[in-house]
Amino acid sequence: MNIIIVNNYEEMSRKAAHLFVAQLLNKPDSVLGLATGSTPVGMYKELIRFYNEGMITFKYATAFNLDEYVGIEKEHPQSYWQFMQDNLFVEVDLPFDRQFIPSGTAENLEDEAHNYDRRIAKAGGIDLQVLGIGRNGHIGFNEPDLKFEARTHVVKLDEQTIQDNSRFFSNISEVPTLALSMGVKTIMQSRNIILLASGKEKGDAIQKMLSGNITPELPASVLQLHPSVTAIIDLEAASRLDIEALRDQYKIVTPK
Ligand code: F6R
Repeated sequence: MNIIIVNNYEEMSRKAAHLFVAQLLNKPDSVLGLATGSTPVGMYKELIRFYNEGMITFKYATAFNLDEYVGIEKEHPQSYWQFMQDNLFVEVDLPFDRQFIPSGTAENLEDEAHNYDRRIAKAGGIDLQVLGIGRNGHIGFNEPDLKFEARTHVVKLDEQTIQDNSRFFSNISEVPTLALSMGVKTIMQSRNIILLASGKEKGDAIQKMLSGNITPELPASVLQLHPSVTAIIDLEAASRLDIEALRDQYKIVTPK
């Protein structure tokens, strides 16, 4: 794993966008794995800027999102479908029929999950997956558990995740309690992964992800086993790391 420590959120977003641009320039028909939440918003803004400058096109790309809430319509203001429209898709030229997000209102969620994995496989697997991290160490909505869930599945959201995500809803009782999420195997099969973390509330999860045991109780720890992860972490999220001790295990770049 490469670890790039940056000063702040803006720098994290810019560096992540650069990796994304490199991916799209190298392989315009890349299969992109996308995330929602506060963390990637700045990166999406940068990507829109690169797109508007004519540096990149999404015309040949395909995108698969990590997750979606169960039980809210895609047009709901807090659905992840709507998030992607608002934060990226309406601004760039990614064809509508190559914007994939699991449907949280599908009649049969098991079928939806299964078909989602089939669609990813048919597209050739994910070239570049972007991940945020939950305060509890979740990636996608793979919550801490006693085992890793391999494939796209229905998940019961953790109390902490519901609390954390209630900031987007007018009332905590409106936060869905279930979601569909890509599984750990699908994420781990991505050829390249960028993990982004900003803010001191992520410090504990980042410390455990990098220094702790590989365990489904801290799902992001599985990334220690992936051959091509770049973690871009701001100083606050990195505040609990013993950087010198980690240099044995990781390639680490720190701010100048
Ligand atoms: C979002 C996702 C989640 C978030 C995580 C961090 O699609 O899969 O794992 O990345 O909950 O959320 P933020 O960025 O809002 O702190």
